[in-house]
Amino acid sequence: MKLNPQFSLFLSLFLIVLSTPLCDSQPPESSPTLARELDAVLQDYAFRAFVHPKTGITYDGSVPSNLTGIQIAALRLRSGSFRKRGVTRYKEFQVPPGVIIQPYVERIVLVYHNLGNWSSFYYPLPGFTYLAPVLGLLAYDASNLSATDVPELDFVASDSPLLIKFTNLSPVSGAVMAQCVWFDLDGVPEFRDLVSRNTCSTYRRGHFSIVVNSTEILSPPGPGVFPSEHKKSSRVWKIVGGVIGGFVVLVLVALLVVWISRCKRSRKVAEMERRAEVGEALQMARVGDTQAPVALGIRTQPRLEDEYVA
Ligand SMILES: *[C@@H]1O[C@H](CO)[C@@H](O)[C@H](O)[C@H]1NC(C)=O
Ligand SMILES: *[C@@H]1O[C@H](CO)[C@@H](O)[C@H](O)[C@H]1NC(C)=O
Ligand SMILES: *[C@@H]1O[C@H](CO)[C@@H](O)[C@H](O)[C@H]1NC(C)=O
Ligand SMILES: *[C@@H]1O[C@H](CO)[C@@H](O)[C@H](O)[C@H]1NC(C)=O
Repeated sequence: MKLNPQFSLFLSLFLIVLSTPLCDSQPPESSPTLARELDAVLQDYAFRAFVHPKTGITYDGSVPSNLTGIQIAALRLRSGSFRKRGVTRYKEFQVPPGVIIQPYVERIVLVYHNLGNWSSFYYPLPGFTYLAPVLGLLAYDASNLSATDVPELDFVASDSPLLIKFTNLSPVSGAVMAQCVWFDLDGVPEFRDLVSRNTCSTYRRGHFSIVVNSTEILSPPGPGVFPSEHKKSSRVWKIVGGVIGGFVVLVLVALLVVWISRCKRSRKVAEMERRAEVGEALQMARVGDTQAPVALGIRTQPRLEDEYVA
């Protein structure tokens, strides 16, 4: 089928409109950046906890006053012994033997974060409720303990995973499905099953917590439980957006239908005109002595049989 360019343009515009999401419910783009800025600040403050650091001893750090509520710690280790023995207990983390640091450095610092009441500020997760604070475990090169903006080292558990045993989970009523959530440095959440009631596992660095679907603990909404103004207005905007979007699609569909039917009609008219012309020509055609009605589309002139005889 050959489409005229106007129609093709219209069709592609129509498809683009159809495939564009009407309302965007993604969290704001700035949140991973905020979390990454926090990682850098906490690296700096965790390293400051080392005054005369001993290898293998956990040092609790202190955070600037505008981050009160966050706990940090730092632990310096030789890469070789870290890989061979792991770390039996580092706050909530248990690191098994066989964890490989990439790229290789001689000594590492394991920095621990407990984001406390800042968890959902730095790792917002719409639709979910945190049952535990977000905990982080990141590795850095220990070669310069006064350095800032140190890049994180990657690590991967080659044998069994690291375990994270959360303490003091928020109690929730009813049977709700809790899940582990893992954020890599890009801030994108991934959900996993719990290992046990309060334990998550990981093969990689990052930030971890336990969450439940908010709708499961909020329902049924009792009297006096109203969504916040912000939520209410965002819901209103979603509805308004949906209505406007739906209307636009409706108008486009209507336009498309009108266009197609007009296109068909004009094609039909053209066809009728063509037929009319051909019909007139046929009426003129004489076959022998008789004027024969001739069907459209027959190219060869009809002849009477006796012409052959004659
Ligand atoms: C905390 O204060 C420091 C200055 O002391 C500032 O640079 C930083 O942006 C503040 N952080 C937050 C999360 O407000
Ligand atoms: C967390 O709690 C501390 C006090 O313990 C408070 O200063 C801080 O503002 C709180 N942070 C948030 C995000 O509410
Ligand atoms: C939460 O659960 C409800 C119903 O079980 C489901 O419709 C909704 O998509 C879930 N929310 C998330 C964020 O997974
Ligand atoms: C460690 O880092 C600090 C801050 O970036 C820098 O001033 C210092 O020269 C570095 N020391 C070494 C030994 O590289």
